[in-house]
Amino acid sequence: MPTLPFPVTTLPTPLGGTLVHQVNRVSEAELKGLPRLELSERSAADLELLATGAYSPLTGFLGEADYLNVVEHLRLADGTPWSLPITLPVGRAEARDLRGRVVLTRDGTAVGLIDVQEQFEARKQWEAREVYRTEEAAHPGVAALYAQGEINLAGPVTLFEVPRGAFPQHHRTPAEVRAVIEARGWRTTVAFQTRNPIHRAHEYLHKVALELVDGLLLHPLVGTTKNDDVPADVRVEAYEVLLDRYYPQARTLLSVYPAAMRYAGPREAITHALSRRNYGATHFIVGRDHAGVGSYYGTYDAQDIFSAYSAEELGIRILKFEHTFYCQSCAQLVSPRTCPHDASHHLVLSGTKVREKLRAGENLPPEFTRPEVAEVLRRAYQGSGD
Ligand code: ADX
Repeated sequence: MPTLPFPVTTLPTPLGGTLVHQVNRVSEAELKGLPRLELSERSAADLELLATGAYSPLTGFLGEADYLNVVEHLRLADGTPWSLPITLPVGRAEARDLRGRVVLTRDGTAVGLIDVQEQFEARKQWEAREVYRTEEAAHPGVAALYAQGEINLAGPVTLFEVPRGAFPQHHRTPAEVRAVIEARGWRTTVAFQTRNPIHRAHEYLHKVALELVDGLLLHPLVGTTKNDDVPADVRVEAYEVLLDRYYPQARTLLSVYPAAMRYAGPREAITHALSRRNYGATHFIVGRDHAGVGSYYGTYDAQDIFSAYSAEELGIRILKFEHTFYCQSCAQLVSPRTCPHDASHHLVLSGTKVREKLRAGENLPPEFTRPEVAEVLRRAYQGSGD
């Protein structure tokens, strides 16, 4: 293998030093008579991420001291970097009965437990302003925040069984991803967060990164997304065909990331990076407007925010990429760093334009999307009548 330009690393330590693991079966008898709480899709995903260590060092939903510190200072109360308040909101009336051990259910089935150690009032407007940088309910993350209950339950959680979800063949816990990385002998691994189909620009980022690191963890988010994002099942099919034809198998791992999307831009980029460290990645890609929506964030805000931490604290190296696109005159994928031509030479399609073309049954230009991926998307869009 050629010498790598980065220092050789082995698996990174999880944030906080230890990979949290709170997956345990509990007997039916132990659950008898306990209060029950039905989880939203997002909270169920957070339960899994907490219990499997994706959110290490968190062992449960945040208490008030951590909540206040994370929202205001981008750190847990003990100073550890953390950026999104991982909370368990419930209605005020419902909260009265939820004390001590509470059974967590999803669609009526018991999936875990929380030891409620604290209840506190969410400060929604403040949280919206600090975390989402807007109080507008038009922002999908803010809308979700406003719609949720007023009271946050806090305390350590237990998950009974790792749910393998809709994509069992691609569903791996952090410990399982780490095991694959070790087995493949990757000394360095770059993780890629995505909620979109992989277009050529994404592929370019992967391949540039793969020139520098040993392996690529393609880690699409498959939790709740907003309605006009491409559904996860369509994306996963598109990832599979793309990987099959265009990616080096020995250097690529497709695995799903069960979190819900918050659309919190810079704040979310930090959690995305820290949790990928917990999955065993040494590097993380942040391109333009990472986890953004509409025009709430500046193009590179999600890159700049990482200066809040030292490289040592982060423990994962951020690979920052400028806006990438196809240039007709260069006849290749480029960015403003590498291309001398003006915008008239560039092929840039907005998400809206892409969806319009797909609905009309038109092909996407091969310079923009691989034909095999375009075909999966076109079929899905036409089939759904969306
Ligand atoms: S995200 O919400 O998961 O960030 P998306 O799947 O579009 O959305 O992006 C995944 C990653 O690729 C993010 O780091 C984003 O910044 C980056 N990215 C997407 N498109 C481009 C592009 N054309 N140029 C540079 N970076 C990009």
